[in-house]
Amino acid sequence: LDLTSYQEEFLHYMKSKKWVREPKNLYEPIDYILKLSGKRIRPILTLMACDILSNEYHEALPAALAIEVFHNFTLVHDDIMDDAPLRRGKETVHEKWDLNTGILSGDAMLILAYQYFENYEPSTFQKLAKLFSQTALEVCDGQQLDIDFETRNDVTIDEYINMIRLKTSVLVAAALQMGAIVAQASDSDSDLLYEYGLNLGLAFQLQDDYLDTFGDPKTFGKQVGGDIIENKKTYLYLKALELANDEDKRKLLFFYKQKLQENSIKIDEVKRIFELYDIPALVQNLIQEYTTASFSSLDKMNIGSENKEKLRAFGDFLMARSK
Ligand code: IPE
Ligand code: IPE
Ligand code: MG
Ligand code: MG
Ligand code: MG
Repeated sequence: LDLTSYQEEFLHYMKSKKWVREPKNLYEPIDYILKLSGKRIRPILTLMACDILSNEYHEALPAALAIEVFHNFTLVHDDIMDDAPLRRGKETVHEKWDLNTGILSGDAMLILAYQYFENYEPSTFQKLAKLFSQTALEVCDGQQLDIDFETRNDVTIDEYINMIRLKTSVLVAAALQMGAIVAQASDSDSDLLYEYGLNLGLAFQLQDDYLDTFGDPKTFGKQVGGDIIENKKTYLYLKALELANDEDKRKLLFFYKQKLQENSIKIDEVKRIFELYDIPALVQNLIQEYTTASFSSLDKMNIGSENKEKLRAFGDFLMARSK
């Protein structure tokens, strides 16, 4: 199948599920977030991995849904932690309802995600649950580091890369490996897919951080400048700090020491400094590097060249995206 067909197959399967039941205040927000127009990157990867390794992508639909529901749970809680007003072009759950709704609906989604593994035989179930539990805990680790970094002024680029590996890459990698598990693939192909996902996930989060500052508000779907408002120690910020002269460095440190009510001056000024030091081009280079690194894992895989091409095309698509 091609990329859009995986997405259509997944959406068709997802639509067959009914989320809303009593108590409505718990399940309606779940239905709301899941029906907003996400890119469905992770479930697409699960289906694609399974298809490539076994030709039976249908088998991977429950695992794909588990991953997407888990991902949406992380978004609901992430938006609370990041104080974000917008998600996929619409109000975030905690804004549309309230904080408690965001917390509990998120909790329920985490459990619902696990329940989809009950569709599998014990030995597959065990492998999926084991990978999933480890991954989910790593995402928590990454999210905590992300928050810790907001109030630190000595974060290194290595620490940042490790943080995004945990909060984002491991889930992209696990999405692929789950497809491999369902396909009963060899350990070697399964591990190489995981490795591909780790590098792709780093490129993906770097692009997310780039778009957060330089994206088009009309297509991005999230509040542009949100990371600057929240003092996120992204690669953009850390690289700018490394390259800036004393005066610009002082400005960056000054702005990232506080949370403000009114952020337009801070956003404009920080963006100006980022642009002055060519940060947009430097991030794009790094995204390219991690994407290229991800492709080298593909080369080592024991699959046909048309399938390698398919996974490569996915990497190119991620790099070029505007949301
Ligand atoms: C957003 O993920 C969270 C990150 C890890 C950057 P996506 O960009 O995949 O969000 P949706 O699902 O398409 O909305
Ligand atoms: C998100 O990182 C990682 C997780 C949701 C686990 P971000 O905070 O950058 O994601 P967005 O930009 O809000 O989607
Ligand atoms: Mg966020
Ligand atoms: Mg966040
Ligand atoms: Mg982001």
